Amino acid sequence: MTYVSENFWHDAVNKATTDLFTFGYKHIIKPHFVFNHTPDVAHSQMIEFCKVTRNIPPLMWLCREMLDYTDPILETNVMGVDFANPFGLSAGLDKDCEMPVLLDNVGFGFETVGSTTSRPCPGNPRPWFHRLPEYDSMMVHVGLANEGSAVVIPRAENAWTKAKNMQVSVSIARTNDDKTGDLDEGIEDYCISMRRAAGRTAMVEVNISCPNTMAGEPFNESPEALDKLFTELDKIDRPQPTLVKMPLNKTWPEFKDLLDVLAEHNVQGLSIANLQKDRTGMNIPRDWEGGLSGSPCYAASNEHIRQVYREYGDRFAIAGIGGVFTPKQAYEKIRSGSSLVMFISALMYRGPQQITVLKRGLAELLRKDGFEHVSEAVGIDA
Ligand SMILES: Cc1cc2nc3c(=O)[nH]c(=O)nc-3n(C[C@H](O)[C@H](O)[C@H](O)COP(=O)(O)O)c2cc1C
Repeated sequence: MTYVSENFWHDAVNKATTDLFTFGYKHIIKPHFVFNHTPDVAHSQMIEFCKVTRNIPPLMWLCREMLDYTDPILETNVMGVDFANPFGLSAGLDKDCEMPVLLDNVGFGFETVGSTTSRPCPGNPRPWFHRLPEYDSMMVHVGLANEGSAVVIPRAENAWTKAKNMQVSVSIARTNDDKTGDLDEGIEDYCISMRRAAGRTAMVEVNISCPNTMAGEPFNESPEALDKLFTELDKIDRPQPTLVKMPLNKTWPEFKDLLDVLAEHNVQGLSIANLQKDRTGMNIPRDWEGGLSGSPCYAASNEHIRQVYREYGDRFAIAGIGGVFTPKQAYEKIRSGSSLVMFISALMYRGPQQITVLKRGLAELLRKDGFEHVSEAVGIDA
C-alpha cells in the first residue's frame, strides 16, 4: 500500500525529481564532478559546495521542494528526542559542521557533526581516503582532523537552533596529536569537549573507536579504562542523551564487557558501529592504511545490533550504522533492533537524494508489513 500524502501533486513531483536526481548523480555528477578527482579533493570540494550553497536561500528552498519527503509513519521519539525520520548522517563526513543547512533542506532526520576534539587537530598525513567502488566502500585514514570543539560545538549549536526539521548531534573524540599523554590526559581531553557540548546539541556521541590515531583505542580495549572515562564524564551535567560509538571488530564477550560498564553510567544509546578493520578476502593494496566503510561493515554491524537488542532490550537505544544503501538494508537494521539509522557511504556513492529514496522506501516496507509507526518494527527480528 502506498501512502498518499495530503498534497498528491507535491508527492508526485517529489518522486519524479528524486528519480531525476538519482539518474543525474549516477550518470553526470559522480563520473564528471566527483569520481574524476581523488577522494581527498572530492571531499574538500563537497564541503566547499555546502559552504557556498547554504548562503543561497532560493537554492535551499528548491532542494526542499524537490527532495524533502515527509511521512508520519517515519516520525519517532528516541531517548526523548523527536525526529522527523530515523535517518542521520554518521560522524566523520562533516567534522567541522559545514553541512547542516544542506542536510536539513534535503530532509535528514539528524546529523552527527564531528568527531571533534578538545584541541584543533591536523589529522594524519594525506591521503585520507581511497575509493573501493567494487566493495561499495571507502578506506578512511583521516585521524580526526578538525578545527577543535571550541569552534565546532558553537557551530553545531547554531545549526541546531536554526534547523527547520533536523536534529544535530556532536561526536567527541580524543585529540590525535603529539601532545597525547597517558590515560588521565585522554580522559580530561574528552571531558573538555563534553563540558563544551553540555546542553548545546540534541545528542552527544562519545567516539571510543577511532581506528586511525596514534594513541590507539585504550577505552575500548579495557573495561576498566572505559569505566574510568565514564566515571569522569558522569560528573558533567548535561541534559541531552549520550551515545557511545562502538568498535565493530570485537567478539561478543568483548563487546558485552564494554556494554556492562556502559550500562552503569549516564549513557542512553549506542552507535553500532565504527569502521571495519578486517580486510580478509579483499583485494586491497597493503600500503593503504585505515578502516573500511560501507558494505564490508554491514553484516558484522547487524550481528552486534541483534545481539545487543536481545540481551539489553530497552537499556540502550541503538543507532545502527554500516553499509546501508537501500531501504531494505535500513529496514533490516531497524528490525534487528535499531531505532535510528546512520550512513555516510550511501551519500558518497549514491548522492544526496538517497535520503529521500531511503525514507520513501522504508515507509513503503513498513506499510506493506502492517506497521503504523517505525518504532513498532524495532527489534522485531532480534
Ligand atoms: C569519510 C569518513 C570519515 C569518518 N570519520 C569518523 C569520525 O570522525 N568519527 C566516527 O565516529 N566515525 C567516523 N567514520 C565512520 C562512520 O561514522 C561510519 O561508522 C562508517 O562509515 C560506516 O557507515 P557507512 O557504511 O554508512 O559509511 C568515518 C567514515 C567515513 C566514511
